[in-house]
Amino acid sequence: MTRKAERGLEWERGTEASGTRMINPLFTQPGSMESVPRWTLPQDEMPPETAYQIVHDEILLDGNARQNLATFVTTWMEPQADRLYAETYDKNMVDKDEYPQTAAIEQRCVHILAHLWNSPEARTTRGTSTTGSSEACMLGGLALKRLWQQKRRAEGKSTESPNIVFASSVQVVWEKFANYWDVEMRAVPITRERPYLTPEAMLQSVDENTIGVVAVLGVTYTGQFEPVKELAAALDSYQAKTGIDIPIHVDGASGAFVAPFLQPELEWDFRLERVHSINTSGHKFGLVYPGLGWIVWRKKGYLPEDLVFNVSYLGGEMPTFALNFSRPGAQVLLQYYNFLRLGRSGYERVQRASSEIARFMAGEIGRMEMFSLVTDGSDMPLITWELKSGHTDKWDLYDLSAKLRERGWLIPAYPMPVGIEDMTVMRIVFRNAMSMDLANLLLEDIRGAVKYLDGLDGPLPREGRPQSYHH
Ligand SMILES: Cc1ncc(COP(=O)(O)O)c(C=O)c1O
Repeated sequence: MTRKAERGLEWERGTEASGTRMINPLFTQPGSMESVPRWTLPQDEMPPETAYQIVHDEILLDGNARQNLATFVTTWMEPQADRLYAETYDKNMVDKDEYPQTAAIEQRCVHILAHLWNSPEARTTRGTSTTGSSEACMLGGLALKRLWQQKRRAEGKSTESPNIVFASSVQVVWEKFANYWDVEMRAVPITRERPYLTPEAMLQSVDENTIGVVAVLGVTYTGQFEPVKELAAALDSYQAKTGIDIPIHVDGASGAFVAPFLQPELEWDFRLERVHSINTSGHKFGLVYPGLGWIVWRKKGYLPEDLVFNVSYLGGEMPTFALNFSRPGAQVLLQYYNFLRLGRSGYERVQRASSEIARFMAGEIGRMEMFSLVTDGSDMPLITWELKSGHTDKWDLYDLSAKLRERGWLIPAYPMPVGIEDMTVMRIVFRNAMSMDLANLLLEDIRGAVKYLDGLDGPLPREGRPQSYHH
């Protein structure tokens, strides 16, 4: 047993072992505290400057957000957006009555998204902002479950065993959904050739108890768009044969803000009748700082009325559907800022710029003899690649990830999910504000790191390597 485990601690690192932390005397006033307890509330106050300095200094050790190429989440907005954020960070989204214009703007954004995603009832359908895609996926899943229950009860059938079908490559939120809301998870294993949900594999898992199928637009592991239209067509044939009508929820956490601009002809959205609901992260390719997701239903009736609560709004009532009660309203205003500021052509320009850099990098990395590309930025502006087997026994992609950290680049290596878990890939997400200049500097650093690793005398130690990460 390790020392940490003996002490019953799940998480403890270096300095965390000490119960007090010293304060640099320069940050305190003569005679005031020289240390603070780490794990208990300090007994006394300290000057605000001291508290500020302590927190400010500690987070210096966090990575640099702009070099965080692991995340899909926005790390840069324009100064005007920063100003708006600073003016609105005190708004609570649930106070619809107190902040009626923020509430109205939220609704406007919902209908703008419904229109962008081709809802036939864009002006009247329902949707909401959330804290992120995870909350939005929970709401989408709950609506599917409730609709299925209502239909089954009306037919006098059992509602004992609901299941939900998706590929094993879904983001962890869908496992959480199945676990938290008591729905059997049918995760279809992916294959190396087709590492996403295919119609054939899906059809083997659906039945009368399937509340819905989740199709992902922008598989987290590779950025590929799942073939929503083909999945919908397969479910149409299934319905024609069996009478069982299974809806689709599209998890467009990243892709629902990319496909409408870069592949407008691709039919993945409410143009397909079977698509009941779509979620996205405003804080990913919606280009807003962290803390914002969206879910929109194709038409009002797909969000069962009995899931909706009303909160007061200008003396009347406004329908809400959310897991949280209070949450920040500023991000919703930032989303509206982006809608006004960029419009369709601006979003297209931003996403295209990221996509072009991704394709350029894919070309360069694909030319390096030790790597083979897995995805080249054709769908999402992200690329993934493998280390060719037999290239070296001295290092692997985890070592390369660690080496690149020396220059501040945060680039994850990780195993693929169930079905092809023996495959390891590296991924770079290209977001707004990653310039071609920075991309070239990164490329130089990747080449330098590989040269260094190839030049080692022997294999790097495998013991005690830091874990890599992905989202
Ligand atoms: C496909 C997919 N779904 C859901 C999520 C969760 O999104 P959020 O971080 O906004 O909760 C992610 C995050 O990367 C994702 O890629």
